[in-house]
Amino acid sequence: MKISIRNAEKEDIEGIMCVEHRSFHTNIAENSDTFLERIESFSDGFLVMVIDGEIAGYISSELWDYSENIETEKFVLGHNITETHRNDGKELYISSIAVLKKYRGKGYGNALFSELVSRIYRNYEISSIILMVSVNWIAARKIYEKNGFKEIQVIKYFFDDDEKSDAIIMRKQM
Ligand SMILES: CC(C)(COP(=O)(O)OP(=O)(O)OC[C@H]1O[C@@H](n2cnc3c(N)ncnc32)[C@H](O)[C@@H]1OP(=O)(O)O)[C@@H](O)C(=O)NCCC(=O)NCCS
Repeated sequence: MKISIRNAEKEDIEGIMCVEHRSFHTNIAENSDTFLERIESFSDGFLVMVIDGEIAGYISSELWDYSENIETEKFVLGHNITETHRNDGKELYISSIAVLKKYRGKGYGNALFSELVSRIYRNYEISSIILMVSVNWIAARKIYEKNGFKEIQVIKYFFDDDEKSDAIIMRKQM
């Protein structure tokens, strides 16, 4: 089995969308324009995991100006990265991560997450990382808790899924 992690390219969009649609509720999955804009605006912040030629997972991110107060409107799903991303931003915002079901539970999600954080930490001047997760996404929450993220806010009924699940905003100071 050949496994690699590399920056996403526009040509990967079909594979990325396949992972997206198989991983998230239809009302939550983001569209291809959103992903293409992310690849174009901040390609260092968008990694794909390729297993035997197939896109097995992805992680996407942005750099934000740091703000102690949480601006919840910045977390809106499908927002345009060009309105929030600053190349010299001091806070890394992880906008999404997903791995195809058949590859889950093998450490790949954690590997993608760790690889993105270490690459960005090496090449940009970030002092914190922020993200949003649904209360129901147990595997993702485990990755974040294990990596030292702390809950800083809960937004009730944020996600438009069947349970109208709450969102947790988590942050880690570097
Ligand atoms: C979140 C996701 C990317 C994790 O990928 P993965 O390759 O399965 O993750 P890992 O194998 O590295 O496992 C991460 C942790 O979650 C645990 N885990 C994995 N699947 C689990 C499950 N179904 N239930 C409970 N824990 C689980 C693992 O045991 C591991 O914890 P540990 O290190 O303490 O053992 C993947 O589950 C996924 O794509 N989920 C759907 C999309 C999603 O929820 N994205 C999060 C957006 S914020």
